[in-house]
Amino acid sequence: MALHFFEEPQHAAQYRECRPSTPSQLHELILNYLQSKKEKPFLLAVDIGCGSGQSTRGLASHFDKVVGVDLSEAQIGEARKTDGPDNISYRQGVAEEMNFEDGSVDLVTVGAAAQWFDMKKFMKELARILKPHGCVALYCYEVPRFLGYDHCSEHPAQIIQDLFTTLKPYETEATSIVWSEYKEVFDAITFPDKERAKDIYVKLKKSISWFISYLNSSVLYKTYRKEDPENAKALLEKLEQRLVKALGVSSETLVEFSMKYYCILASKPE
Ligand SMILES: C[S@@+](CC[C@H](N)C(=O)[O-])C[C@H]1O[C@@H](n2cnc3c(N)ncnc32)[C@H](O)[C@@H]1O
Repeated sequence: MALHFFEEPQHAAQYRECRPSTPSQLHELILNYLQSKKEKPFLLAVDIGCGSGQSTRGLASHFDKVVGVDLSEAQIGEARKTDGPDNISYRQGVAEEMNFEDGSVDLVTVGAAAQWFDMKKFMKELARILKPHGCVALYCYEVPRFLGYDHCSEHPAQIIQDLFTTLKPYETEATSIVWSEYKEVFDAITFPDKERAKDIYVKLKKSISWFISYLNSSVLYKTYRKEDPENAKALLEKLEQRLVKALGVSSETLVEFSMKYYCILASKPE
């Protein structure tokens, strides 16, 4: 199963380096939702599928305690390497069987991980561990887009499209859940009080070489590379060259990207 990549220490280290932290505007949206559904105090937030902690750290100032949970020891190891506030801890565990007491959690967040969950079992666990009116936020993001390069000899979007055409045979059920902007995840939520926040855009200044590392850390690309290492290597090398040529910048020049996030929010009934 594609998920095993997250167990590899090298993958986890790469993930920590090149995957962006959850933007503060998304955490604000989630916090505002929680405040609209549930009264304070907010004592415990749990970030499931926390990876190397990039989705966990931004929660620290809003809760007494934040726990990041991931099935991969390697990811948890990377999360612990990064300095963070004292009220955050990390532990190994799975979404379908969370080691928290009944009715003890104010907020559960899931960043870019729900596509791999057994949603039926996860919902059962959510209903067990959340306090009445406690909330869950499940969000994900699209591949970053280059901003302001619409008049290039070759449009960057076309170059990236070509990459995904090559990777198409390696798509899995998880990929299609992401492409659908979590439609299946939304449908699987059994709490009646649920909603979607779409089209949350965040700008980033990063380089083409960062973008290549980002693609390199994707499960879809890694699946291809496992099957066909030589062609996979050449694919990213060519992609980098095409982007450098089209944009007329060096691989290390900082350019502007836009990242689109989408988020499902739901609240447990009384
Ligand atoms: C793409 S990473 C996301 C990391 C981080 N939340 C972020 O926003 O970048 C997905 C993580 O979900 C974890 N994961 C996948 N299925 C899981 C499950 N059933 N229970 C717990 N963690 C899981 C993987 O090990 C991986 O670290």
